[in-house]
Amino acid sequence: MDSIAYVNGSFVPLSEARVSILDRGFLFADGIYEVSAVLDGKLVDNASHLARLERSVGEISLLLPESIDRIIDIQKELISRNKLENGLVYIEVTRGADKGRDFAFPKGVRPTMIMFTSVKDIVNAEAAKTGIGVITVPDIRWARRDIKSVALLAQVLAKQAAAEAGAGEAWMIEDGKVTEGGSSSAFILTQEDVIVTRQNGSEILPGCTRKAVVKLAEERQLRIEERAFSIDEALGAKEAFITSASSFVQPVVSIDGKKVASGKPGPMATRLREIYIDFARATAT
Ligand code: PDD
Repeated sequence: MDSIAYVNGSFVPLSEARVSILDRGFLFADGIYEVSAVLDGKLVDNASHLARLERSVGEISLLLPESIDRIIDIQKELISRNKLENGLVYIEVTRGADKGRDFAFPKGVRPTMIMFTSVKDIVNAEAAKTGIGVITVPDIRWARRDIKSVALLAQVLAKQAAAEAGAGEAWMIEDGKVTEGGSSSAFILTQEDVIVTRQNGSEILPGCTRKAVVKLAEERQLRIEERAFSIDEALGAKEAFITSASSFVQPVVSIDGKKVASGKPGPMATRLREIYIDFARATAT
């Protein structure tokens, strides 16, 4: 059955949802996106995602066509119209469609805003029980990865390479260190029981799930270091894992076909996943 999507003020069947071929998201990837998880019909850590949306659009001088309160209403209306229990709400805002193709910003053009939902049982995902393999690829992205831009070709190629290798994610490498996953933040647990994830900066997207997991771990007196790590360090670690809105916390059990520790999901990733799911349930709106 067709789900309902939102396009510039209207709720329409997904198969009929359309934007112009002159839309700058299509022509230039001149747009920003966000993905929020839905658990039991409620949005997970949504304020954090919408704060990042506001920051991302601000960084490219794009004005949101609706207020944050209205955006939340539309997200909730879509969840309700689609009777979505568990899944994701996708939002994209672009600099709109002008009369032609000019690189510089158009004047007097209303930004495009679209949203749609997808069904995904993140809590019961098989990959969380078995853990995933990752492959490594060079990080060939632009220098402002802190902006959640829809220019995702580097990640499309990275994640296609992972899929072809039977892996669940690609870890991107720059100057000998892991930046992040194609669509997730990267973590390891060292032999000294220190949770390590790269510090925020223009080299990575500031993950909302990463932020929540770091805070939840700190509240439990777990040791955290925000710094870059290499693949050698990850292969010598006790555990590795990823975080994202679409996976929450997922164990990484191999890197480029080499096992991480025993090659099974470790207790820290499993515990952090449970802690995150409890937090998600308790705070979803
Ligand atoms: N991706 N790093 C990158 C490059 C990402 O694309 C994402 C999210 C993350 C994790 O961020 P968060 O915890 O806020 O979801 C890190 C989304 C889920 C996607 O592109 O589908």
